Amino acid sequence: MSPITGEDTVASLRARLEQTERQTNARQRQLERYAADLREVFKQERARAQELRRSYISTVRALSNAVEARDAYTGKHAERVAAYGMELARAAGIEIEDSPQIEFGFLLHDVGKVAVPDAILFKSSSLTEEEYSLVRRHPVIGTEILRDVDFLGEGKLVVRHHHERWDGRGYPDGLAGEAIPLAARVFAVADALDALTTDRPYRPASSFAAAREVVCKESGRQFDPAVVAAYRQIPDSTFEALRDAL
Ligand SMILES: [Fe+2]
Repeated sequence: MSPITGEDTVASLRARLEQTERQTNARQRQLERYAADLREVFKQERARAQELRRSYISTVRALSNAVEARDAYTGKHAERVAAYGMELARAAGIEIEDSPQIEFGFLLHDVGKVAVPDAILFKSSSLTEEEYSLVRRHPVIGTEILRDVDFLGEGKLVVRHHHERWDGRGYPDGLAGEAIPLAARVFAVADALDALTTDRPYRPASSFAAAREVVCKESGRQFDPAVVAAYRQIPDSTFEALRDAL
């Protein structure tokens, strides 16, 4: 047996080092493959989530259009109100990206009107007390219709509370102030804005400038002052552009 020399030690150390390097490189390549796989999985998941969201929104739009199809003169009311509402919600500080269900609620707010007979909904003379109380049930009926649709989330609160008033004189629950869900308080302003700026059988449409005066006068009465303050920051041209884009 030959004696161990310094050269042997260096050679064996070098061999071990090379082996360690090979193993490290192999491990690194494996980790890189895992990382690439993970990136691919995330990409696919994101695409699936986006597709699911698109399916949700088109389903909600289809339902909202079916409800609106009955009512010729308010054509596209739900789409406009949803667009105005989203603009106002952003200005009022609601993180829309975190609450996509709010838009669903805006689109479906009047779904409960399917239970109101045409003879009442389109009556040109004034409603009797009994007829009016039936119309006033549409937020509750709408909430009932959507009760088991989980993906609508807080959108259902908009459906139930879109006729509440800041001063508590609204319906169906007579909630007041911040007891009314914020999205419903935002919606109330958007709804009034669209009602005022579209033709009705009994009066022509107002300009956005004239509608602004009416809305601002109702701050603290019909509407949340904070939402009206957010509305004041948005120029009329923004709403006009949203309306004309539909
Ligand atoms: Fe309504």
